[in-house]
Amino acid sequence: MDEFSLYVLDIVNNSTRAGARNIRIFLREEGDDLYFTVEDDGCGMSEEQLARLRDPFFTTRKTRKVGLGVPFLVMLAEMTGGWVKIASKQAAGEGEDHGTKLEAKFGLHHVDFLPLGDLCGTVTTLIQGAPDTDFLYLHTRGEKQVRLDTKELRQVLGDLSLAEPEVLAWIRENLAEQYEQMNQV
Ligand SMILES: Nc1ncnc2c1ncn2[C@@H]1O[C@H](COP(=O)(O)OP(=O)(O)O)[C@@H](O)[C@H]1O
Ligand SMILES: [Mg+2]
Repeated sequence: MDEFSLYVLDIVNNSTRAGARNIRIFLREEGDDLYFTVEDDGCGMSEEQLARLRDPFFTTRKTRKVGLGVPFLVMLAEMTGGWVKIASKQAAGEGEDHGTKLEAKFGLHHVDFLPLGDLCGTVTTLIQGAPDTDFLYLHTRGEKQVRLDTKELRQVLGDLSLAEPEVLAWIRENLAEQYEQMNQV
């Protein structure tokens, strides 16, 4: 994987696969550091699953033998002078809290870090793959920010699904415009 956005896609796909209804994705650039946080209200993991998560041979998925998502993220973070922390909770009973929070730090200007890649495409793809899930996406760089909240979007869209091609096209363009503004010096 030679773009950071592909790591984002992989990690957030874990949240959708865990049945999350709400997913919050934060990217925060602070000087030489990039912080990446994903919070979901999915099924969560047991202590045992959590302990094995950094092991590339651990996966609960059936379609591929090895789970490289989290181990790859840990490798990239540690290679660039950062870290990954994961906290997770399974529901203890009906209606109890559950979910996972992954936080990572990367050295944004480290030689081993990657181009951020197509974040607009990644967010659009994630929404397309889980149009009933609510996503909050917030990328900040100093005072500047790119933000998308599907809850707000739904209020405007009414009955129109987020999976409609014209809605997805609008989302992608809206993000691209926000990134253009962010990247202006
Ligand atoms: N956000 C999450 N919520 C619940 N379980 C998760 C989450 N992230 C990872 N997992 C669990 O950890 C396993 C390993 O994840 P990962 O390293 O991305 O590999 P893969 O997704 O290919 O299985 C998943 O199969 C899943 O069981
Ligand atoms: Mg994965």
